[in-house]
Amino acid sequence: DEALTVLGLESSCDETAASVLRRYADGRVEILSNIVASQDEEHRPFGGVVPEIAARAHMRKIEPILAKAVKSSGVSWDDLDGIAATAGPGLIGGVITGLMSAKGLAMALNKPLIAVNHLEGHALSPRLTEDCAFPYLLLLVSGGHSQLLSVTGLGEYERLGSTVDDAAGEAFDKTAKVMGLGFPGGPKVQSWAERGNPKAIKFPRPMKGRDHADFSFAGLKTAVARAWDASDKTDTAKADIAASFQRAMTDTMLDRVGRAITLYRNATGDTGRARLVVAGGVAANTELRAGLKTMAATRNFDFIAPPLKFCGDNAAMIALAGAERLAAGITDGYDAPARPRWPL
Ligand code: KG4
Ligand code: ZN
Repeated sequence: DEALTVLGLESSCDETAASVLRRYADGRVEILSNIVASQDEEHRPFGGVVPEIAARAHMRKIEPILAKAVKSSGVSWDDLDGIAATAGPGLIGGVITGLMSAKGLAMALNKPLIAVNHLEGHALSPRLTEDCAFPYLLLLVSGGHSQLLSVTGLGEYERLGSTVDDAAGEAFDKTAKVMGLGFPGGPKVQSWAERGNPKAIKFPRPMKGRDHADFSFAGLKTAVARAWDASDKTDTAKADIAASFQRAMTDTMLDRVGRAITLYRNATGDTGRARLVVAGGVAANTELRAGLKTMAATRNFDFIAPPLKFCGDNAAMIALAGAERLAAGITDGYDAPARPRWPL
């Protein structure tokens, strides 16, 4: 059975990650290693990702991490069929570090280089663990991006909607920061929300009911800051604001997904069983996953969400995007540029 073995590197934000995977011609995937070194500790004192600190940490970590990923995969350098790295979008310092390392390796080993769009990595992430055939409707929600995409094939992404201001993850992070819950914010908000009343505060549902499938989260962030200012700042207040905010986020995203389902049906002309996929760091959110699952069932969609470790940034998804590109005969020159902005 024809298989491609690819090393993937990810360094576009605050995770330094490397992974080796094998992809068979029939689409089956074996993840041979998956190493993720988080920089949470380095950024925590600042309550957010500091680009300069991220760049230095990537430089320090990339080489040991990629050596570890290859060693623990059990394959030799020679067994690799290609080297894939995130080439953007993201923080330029980190992207350059990962991409340069990949170029150096590819040149030294005389192997093809695949310059991967980080968002394509997220978009293909469900295919790491599931038989998730094209086409599918994708909700991609992370710290830097919020989009609804019609995914019809490798490299074929039609945007049905996107955020007009903040990303979904950013809204979670800012909410956590306002209340001093810690960093990264998403998981903190989620755990505080478990103890709160989601109906305690009436937060807005931006864009709800609109014809398009765009998002807006900036107003929600402002409303949280106002509610926190007006509160007595007790643990009960924290939990209630977190729960009410999370519910508003979930309602808003579900409303937008509902709209996108209609647009997707109209665009594809497909009325049969279809697939709804969620990906990106915010896809780890339990309430969102539960809501999407219910919505999918009522609209005749199968619901697919990657396991938690493949929702946030990781290199397995970059290796997979690389392997799928390589299998399709798409590679990049050793002069492939780092692209801080790179829409799908
Ligand atoms: O995909 P990702 O790891 O990095 C980017 O490409 O941005 O996403 C990180 C984002 C952060 O904003 C983080 O707070 C959010 O995902 N996140 C969550 C949860 N876990 C991570 N948001 C809500 N609920 C969670 N459980
Ligand atoms: Zn990401």
